[in-house]
Amino acid sequence: MKEMKTAIITGAAKGIGRSIALKLADAGFALVLNDMKWDAESESVFSDRNCDYVLSSGDVSSSEYVKSLMDTAMEKYGSIDVVVNNAGITRDGLIIKMSEEDFDKVIEVNLKGVFNVMKASARIMMKQRIGRIINISSIVGLRGNAGQINYAAAKGGVIAMTKSLAKELASRSVLVNAIAPGFIKTDMTDVLPENVVESLLTQIPLGKLGEVEDVANLALFLASEESGYITGQIISVDGGMNI
Ligand SMILES: NC(=O)c1ccc[n+]([C@@H]2O[C@H](COP(=O)([O-])OP(=O)(O)OC[C@H]3O[C@@H](n4cnc5c(N)ncnc54)[C@H](O)[C@@H]3O)[C@@H](O)[C@H]2O)c1
Repeated sequence: MKEMKTAIITGAAKGIGRSIALKLADAGFALVLNDMKWDAESESVFSDRNCDYVLSSGDVSSSEYVKSLMDTAMEKYGSIDVVVNNAGITRDGLIIKMSEEDFDKVIEVNLKGVFNVMKASARIMMKQRIGRIINISSIVGLRGNAGQINYAAAKGGVIAMTKSLAKELASRSVLVNAIAPGFIKTDMTDVLPENVVESLLTQIPLGKLGEVEDVANLALFLASEESGYITGQIISVDGGMNI
């Protein structure tokens, strides 16, 4: 097996995506980093690091943009070994109050965005006869969550797509897995009211929220040669919440 070298990470400007990018950079990967919003602070995290990377701004729900992202990666590095589908949003609300727009937007980014990136990278990885696709799903995709019917549908869909694509691409040695984080400390969970966090903590056997590095450590393993016999799996990083 050829040494893994180039990784595309979506939603890499902050949170879990940034942590995965830094972990892969430290492991020697060249990085193609996507996000909708890059600011000076996010950019400096990578420019201050001694790593090989290119930044790309765009929306993963646009298939045109995603094609250009793949072109950028191929032009600069000549291969795409690992793709991490991490970009994601929430637009929470109980179903009777949820607008169609909020339902559609979350599906567009969290489900269609993953489809766009998987489709474009599958084409390349099938030719290479090697590759890893790592999708960031969620415990909410496994168990559902009141107030997140749009997000649960998208993340559950990501799980189903992961299993399907793993079956499609296995014969080409392209492995497709998903990570299902529980509740991890990022801007996405910062908005949760204190009483919600307290109630969550009672449901987490390890008694604390996760750190972004907890997810990044698993992503690095799934990007490494050591995970070469694992495909189609949904692996929880949730402090035992989904036991
Ligand atoms: N934080 C958690 O507890 C948790 C739990 C389970 C799953 N997740 C998933 O992990 C992933 C990362 O979440 P996070 O907590 O780091 O969130 P975050 O909000 O801190 O970061 C998400 C990043 O994705 C980018 N992004 C959003 N929409 C985009 C688009 N259309 N195209 C490109 N980039 C886009 C944002 O600009 C942001 O930089 C998401 O898919 C999320 O659903 C998070």
